[in-house]
Amino acid sequence: MGKELRSRGWFGRKDKDGIIYRSWMKNQGMPTDMFDGRPVIGICNTFSELTPCNAHFRAHAEAVKKGVLEAGGFPVEFPIMSLGETLLKPTAMLFRNLASMDAEESIRGNPIDGVVLLTGCDKTTPSTVMGAASVGLPTIVVPGGPMLNGHYKGQLIGSGTHVWKFDEDMKTGKMTQEECEYAESCMSRSIGHCMTMGTASTMACMVESLGLTLSGAAAIPAADSRKKVMAQLSGRRIVQMVRDDLTIDKILTREAFENAIITNSAIGGSSNFVIHLMAIAGRIGVELTLEDFDRLGSKIPLLLNLMPAGKYLMEDFYYAGGLPVILHELKEHLHKNVVTVTGKNHHENIVNDHSCYNQEVIAAYTKPFKEDAGIVVVKGNLAANGAVIKPSAATPSLMKHTGRAVVFESIEDYHARVDDPLLDIDETCVMVLKYAGPVGYPGMPEVGNMALPKKILEKGITDMVRISDGRMSGTAYGTAVLHVSPESAIGGTLALVQNGDLIELDVEQRKLHLHVTDDELHKRRQAWQPPKPAAERGYVSLYIRHVMGADKGADLDFLQGSSGSEVTRDSH
Ligand code: FES
Ligand code: MG
Repeated sequence: MGKELRSRGWFGRKDKDGIIYRSWMKNQGMPTDMFDGRPVIGICNTFSELTPCNAHFRAHAEAVKKGVLEAGGFPVEFPIMSLGETLLKPTAMLFRNLASMDAEESIRGNPIDGVVLLTGCDKTTPSTVMGAASVGLPTIVVPGGPMLNGHYKGQLIGSGTHVWKFDEDMKTGKMTQEECEYAESCMSRSIGHCMTMGTASTMACMVESLGLTLSGAAAIPAADSRKKVMAQLSGRRIVQMVRDDLTIDKILTREAFENAIITNSAIGGSSNFVIHLMAIAGRIGVELTLEDFDRLGSKIPLLLNLMPAGKYLMEDFYYAGGLPVILHELKEHLHKNVVTVTGKNHHENIVNDHSCYNQEVIAAYTKPFKEDAGIVVVKGNLAANGAVIKPSAATPSLMKHTGRAVVFESIEDYHARVDDPLLDIDETCVMVLKYAGPVGYPGMPEVGNMALPKKILEKGITDMVRISDGRMSGTAYGTAVLHVSPESAIGGTLALVQNGDLIELDVEQRKLHLHVTDDELHKRRQAWQPPKPAAERGYVSLYIRHVMGADKGADLDFLQGSSGSEVTRDSH
């Protein structure tokens, strides 16, 4: 072993402070030899019964502990703020940065030599990785795993994806409330996170492609015993990573981020990937721009046939071979000069284990499921800093479309008027939602795929161009232009759009243009009044004063970068 473990600064002390650091830990029944200099492994647990996707994590923590003990380490589990997508209002995204601070300070302030992150529901992955990146210790992620496939009346149903469908069916009278409540039970029938290629599955694949998990970890269903095995093996591995001083900054290089972008295109990952990957990059000091996503990702075809872009679910992905198959198909495109938690690159990790067992689910690179994948960045006077659209979730015929704007001034305005039979709208219009960005909502919620007006759904039409500064659930679909930046609440042009303005979307030309003259826009800008701040005190007030634009990952400006792991002063 090379350098002295940082935990020795607590447990190795021969003074009053050493007594304090060891003695109170012993009240948990820890023998004296646990403090003999073995690597101390923090298990950062995002368990919560209010985060149903992570509610099974106590079992994973126990499995990690077994592995740590087997490898001669000292496991210590600790909780941090858990972020559940489904219950937290106004949106879990508002608290991603707060949870990242919790993770960062909990890791740095404690006698931890290496950390295992137990993550599942969407924001629990980026928040913990952001926090860990700002400390810089050896770090491994254990993704919590997707739920088993949903089945309803003989049909495969996917988390989230079918919520929008059921809602439409209820609106048009195709489904009763009773049928819907039964279908809800069918959708969430096991432990785990959303089993579509929503944001949680996207984040699991993101950490695997970044090199932060053991190979094949992302796709294993939560209910599969092999998930616990993966957790145990990760516990063993982190101890060796501490001994080898394989820190997170050695893994999260520019090349690793590029690999993650390429992989995300091939799997049809969520548009939320952009925001979270940029925020992580900001912590580790890698410069990523929106253009990187378009440049590296938009030429990669879609290989994975999973909802919402396709028809299968994560369980099928696992049986077909999981992410190693995708990484193998992408081998010509991925950087090899990277190192993963195993100490090797992806290519070396999967050399004996990349067989595809179902080409309906994972297509070969030479015979992709769809040509259009990835995230496209559009720009123009309506989004000077860019906006994103996910072609694989959109309608091809709407990718070049000019339409009359129908403007909703807020989410309340949208709810109040969208189903009004008198609303002046048809399917050629462009629906515009304002004030749904980081500052505006606050927290940039997943409202960008706003449901179509009932009268349009009743015509059998299921997609229209929608534009907002909000996000869209990774489980959702539709021709939604998202993350418009600068956002409307800080005076972006989106705030100035009026009913009847013509808006042009041209995905091939990467263009989003508001057909209003500069003079007129100038006049409108003079008359524009910023909205009242969402909060005057507390975290939300701090958030709206410091949050950066969606084009920069929506982290807080003062959280950029790392503070390292050193803490010099003692507690007494
Ligand atoms: Fe938790 Fe989808 S709601 S992963
Ligand atoms: Mg979500």
